[in-house]
Amino acid sequence: MPESSFAAWRARVDAALEHALPAANASPQRLHSAMRHAALDGGKRMRPLLVYATGTAFGADATTLDAPAAAVELIHAYSLVHDDLPAMDDDSLRRGKPTVHVAFDEATAILAGDAMQSLAFELIADASLPAQTRVAMLRELSIAAGTRGMCGGQALDIDATGNANAIGADELQRLHALKTGALLRASVRLGSIAAGVDAETMQRLDIFADALGLAFQIRDDLLDVEGDSTTLGKTAGKDAAQAKATFPALIGLDASRARLQELATTMHGVLTPFGGRAAALAALARMAVERKH
Ligand code: IPE
Ligand code: IPE
Ligand code: MG
Ligand code: MG
Ligand code: MG
Repeated sequence: MPESSFAAWRARVDAALEHALPAANASPQRLHSAMRHAALDGGKRMRPLLVYATGTAFGADATTLDAPAAAVELIHAYSLVHDDLPAMDDDSLRRGKPTVHVAFDEATAILAGDAMQSLAFELIADASLPAQTRVAMLRELSIAAGTRGMCGGQALDIDATGNANAIGADELQRLHALKTGALLRASVRLGSIAAGVDAETMQRLDIFADALGLAFQIRDDLLDVEGDSTTLGKTAGKDAAQAKATFPALIGLDASRARLQELATTMHGVLTPFGGRAAALAALARMAVERKH
């Protein structure tokens, strides 16, 4: 069941992105082409899937989820464009394609990321949703994208780069919670807000999302060690080469895998009381832990 929902939800968010992104032949064409290169035709769409899975589990109509799903994917795709820049991770491969600064140029990559971020907020501001819902969504996404979320985590990541043992496990967990966890938590919350869930449900879903966020990045760090660039669609082995602070570097591969299993158990336990309605969320939890790319 979840897999067929995933295909339908991916098609929905792809259509929303296609519709929202400026046409490649509209001026400034280079900027628009770069935005489309970054956001379309690639990626697992994990964050939009979380928006749809959470929202529909608690009674939201999929049509109310398209704007927040596309918005969080735009923030994520922008974060990848900037993450790949020479000043950050300096990567040349992303989603099986040349990174934006390689396919275009560095200035265009910076501007494409900036414009994707703005477009994300515009999409929610313009959505056919009650004003209160839109403000709550804008607040959630802006906090998750900013210093208390992704940007803050990326700053900690850059600080720790080159000296993998500079930070301990608690600090690394915080780094991961910010750079990756915040947008995943926001995805779940955007779905919750659309569905109008009560405070207690929101709290349970936060516990789920926090475990999922950490699991997702530990898996990412393991795949960087164990995966190959073709399957990953991005350069393997770069974390060790750049002495990134990661769980495999800090506690080793076996302990990292054990940590992942603990997080899988946590997620399962949190979702169980929700019963069958949480089937798609449970499938996404498995995807976070078991994914091969
Ligand atoms: C990669 O995210 C960066 C991390 C936060 C680990 P994804 O693994 O979701 O990348 P795409 O969207 O599928 O390309
Ligand atoms: C990136 O983490 C997280 C972001 C906020 C973009 P990584 O640097 O490990 O992501 P990949 O491996 O390049 O996708
Ligand atoms: Mg990085
Ligand atoms: Mg990177
Ligand atoms: Mg990585």
